[in-house]
Amino acid sequence: PAPGWTRTADTVVIGSGIAGLVAALRCHERGQRVLLVTKALLDAGSTRWAQGGIAAALDPADSPEEHLADTLTAGVGLCDEEAVRALVTDAPAAVRRLVDLGTAFDRDASGELELGREGGHHRRRVAHAGGDATGAEISRALRAALKEHGIEAIEHALVLDLVKDADGRAAGITLHVMGEGSPNGVGAVRARAVVLATGGLGQVYSATTNPEVSTGDGVALALRAGAAVADLEFVQFHPTALWLGDGARGRLPLISEAVRGEGAHLVDHDGVRFMVGRHELAELAPRDVVAKGILNRMRETGASHMLLDGRHFGRRMWERRFPTILAACRHHGIDPVTEPIPIAPSAHYASGGVRTDPSGRTTVPGLYACGEVACTGVHGANRLASNSLLEGLVFAERIAAAITEDAPEPGEAAFEPTAAEPTAAEPTAAEPNTVATGRDLRGEIQRIMTAHAGVLRTADGLATAERELAALTPELGGSGVAGWEAANLHAVASAIVAAAHRREETRGSHWREDRPERDDANWRGRLVTRLSWDGT
Ligand code: SIN
Repeated sequence: PAPGWTRTADTVVIGSGIAGLVAALRCHERGQRVLLVTKALLDAGSTRWAQGGIAAALDPADSPEEHLADTLTAGVGLCDEEAVRALVTDAPAAVRRLVDLGTAFDRDASGELELGREGGHHRRRVAHAGGDATGAEISRALRAALKEHGIEAIEHALVLDLVKDADGRAAGITLHVMGEGSPNGVGAVRARAVVLATGGLGQVYSATTNPEVSTGDGVALALRAGAAVADLEFVQFHPTALWLGDGARGRLPLISEAVRGEGAHLVDHDGVRFMVGRHELAELAPRDVVAKGILNRMRETGASHMLLDGRHFGRRMWERRFPTILAACRHHGIDPVTEPIPIAPSAHYASGGVRTDPSGRTTVPGLYACGEVACTGVHGANRLASNSLLEGLVFAERIAAAITEDAPEPGEAAFEPTAAEPTAAEPTAAEPNTVATGRDLRGEIQRIMTAHAGVLRTADGLATAERELAALTPELGGSGVAGWEAANLHAVASAIVAAAHRREETRGSHWREDRPERDDANWRGRLVTRLSWDGT
């Protein structure tokens, strides 16, 4: 739709998780006029749900080299070593800068940062806050800093598309501010630099640890804009989401890897520790290995879920170290102090996304990406635990430097400014999750993806998913937030299925039952999706 209003900024940041907030702050510090837009409330995305923490070689006995080695191992041969090196080398100082910004990480008796351990890490190197509420604390501190610096943020603003100038450079975005009504709710931001920090895409599946807003909007925008997108087949399933019964849908509570890091055991219904003997790190193997171990044991025993046993922690430890998880379990009638927690793997994280260089530049000049929406190359085929907040932090800072260095000049944008300007809108009542046809397209996409393109994949299942997704195409195009989100979910789901179909091997979080082996001879490379840009 044609924009009804236009705003101007030097840099527009889309998204308000750790990546978006840090990008906005660091660009502001470098003297840019920054406008931040976010789809719901500032803290509605995945960051505030992050539990375990943020990884960095902060212990004097640890080193970025060791963090690098663990990250490369988890990524199963597909990480970009240069990007990982940037990540792990910048990490300790970047985490200390978060402390300087006011983040209150947990500390030990001597006042040093208390470090936890998670899957795939050979050392304790995960800083955490509030026990298991790390993301919430980081988000709080960053939002306070945003306010303190007077950086403008527009909430309830769903980004629609990238606008390019005549030279193909990013020149701004169109967006819909919810509650502004149609067509006036559709506006544009003209900006020299556009930073995508829109987060993940877990909502393509029926059950996920991701919040409702994680609908892949940034990846879909990038695909439409002709930017390269990569590694989409590597959707990571977290081994231990709280199991709420077969067929549970929506956001499932996470049981952090840190619980296993403190010594909780994965057991089957006979109390057997089935990860022992499957990997040298047992319960602390990389995430893909543990998720597969759980699913295999479920199949071997015919069980719908497995159990995580942390009864030996005792009540005081649960209350101090894992208050969020304790409360979530008790809310669902389970007491981890006295009984094992029912768990099963659930869609958690997109290791791929919009392809960037180690400074966050995408293949479209003027368009940058950081956080879960990006594919910086640090995760390869499977992200290492607690490298996600870190990636958002480090690459947001690198993007601020890159934008300054690129000093992009404003180009001739393909939209005209108008007089009317939006204000931060009041939220409207939740819009129904349907489009004009009345069909629950989101639910239909989730059903297809969960049935055929989830943790276990086959060529036949993926072909079925392709057919069923294609059959939905005529129903897309509804306006309004539900319609746009459905179109984004459909674009992202179709791209995931195409990549998963094409990669004829099993690697990391991509598990092809019909191609069960890793195939380095043919598949030690990255699948890049790039749609052509038609200039409109
Ligand atoms: C967790 O706490 O287990 C989640 C950490 C992550 O996704 O890296």
